[in-house]
Amino acid sequence: MNQTKIGIDAGGTLVKVAYRESSSIVYQTFPSQAIYDAVSWLNDSFLNPIVCITGGKSQLLAEKLTAPAKTIVEFDATNRGVHFLAGQQRDAIENNFMFVNIGTGTSIHYAKDMEQQRVGGTGIGGGTLMGLAYLLTGLWDYERIVQLASNGDRGNVDLKVKDIFEGALPPISGELTASNFGKKESMMARNPSESDILAAIIGMIGEVIVTVSSQMAFQHNVGSIIYFGSSLRSNPLLRDIIKEYTRLAGKEPVFLKNGEYSGAVGALLSLD
Ligand SMILES: Nc1ncnc2c1ncn2[C@@H]1O[C@H](COP(=O)(O)OP(=O)(O)OP(=O)(O)O)[C@@H](O)[C@H]1O
Ligand SMILES: [Mg+2]
Repeated sequence: MNQTKIGIDAGGTLVKVAYRESSSIVYQTFPSQAIYDAVSWLNDSFLNPIVCITGGKSQLLAEKLTAPAKTIVEFDATNRGVHFLAGQQRDAIENNFMFVNIGTGTSIHYAKDMEQQRVGGTGIGGGTLMGLAYLLTGLWDYERIVQLASNGDRGNVDLKVKDIFEGALPPISGELTASNFGKKESMMARNPSESDILAAIIGMIGEVIVTVSSQMAFQHNVGSIIYFGSSLRSNPLLRDIIKEYTRLAGKEPVFLKNGEYSGAVGALLSLD
């Protein structure tokens, strides 16, 4: 029997696993906090697997596995996975593009000729959503947070350009956010709902990420920005904001199917 090849991306929040079964790739996720669940599952499910681990917690995980595991640099693994997944979903992927990994934090990369260069990042990411959501609403369950956010109205929290230019014609689109969380007067008159607050947090995160990423796309003269990471999971609101703002910046947003597994897939491919 062939030994199973397993690629793992042990990130700050989630451990992502990708392994081959017949001709397809199977995906699995565990919370990094409960790393022993991932360890037990891996030790119990596979006999003498061939393992490659990437991500900030790769060393921690490798020490706990029964099987020997090699570790690889996260940015290279992610780059490889991104090219593979992008190649699967588009007929012709451009030779150069930006890719943005919205994990616990956000990392921004310029890809050209199959190579990547990390050109920047921001601490505003999925961890910011979890932390601010907890502070402002007491909620901590990811699925609950994104589900509630989808019914929220950012208009009760964020100040739009048109709110400032009351009645007058603004020099830029009145629909743009003038100040995230800036509608203090109206919030003092009527408290926004949990859903409104959560939607505003997601809005702020999406807008910051696009602002930084699109600036870098201009600097590197590329047209497409590929976004991925578990923060986009079950999160249509974040996708929509990113899509809209990226197009406003004149760039083309691309979302990768199974993109949150880019690192794990890259680690898996490095075993071939
Ligand atoms: N089941 C879940 N539990 C917790 N967070 C989740 C879950 N599903 C999606 N998320 C979101 O995804 C984010 C983590 O994304 P991802 O798995 O890409 O990051 P990571 O690889 O763990 O972190 P990093 O790459 O920054 O070390 C969380 O901060 C949260 O916003
Ligand atoms: Mg990650």
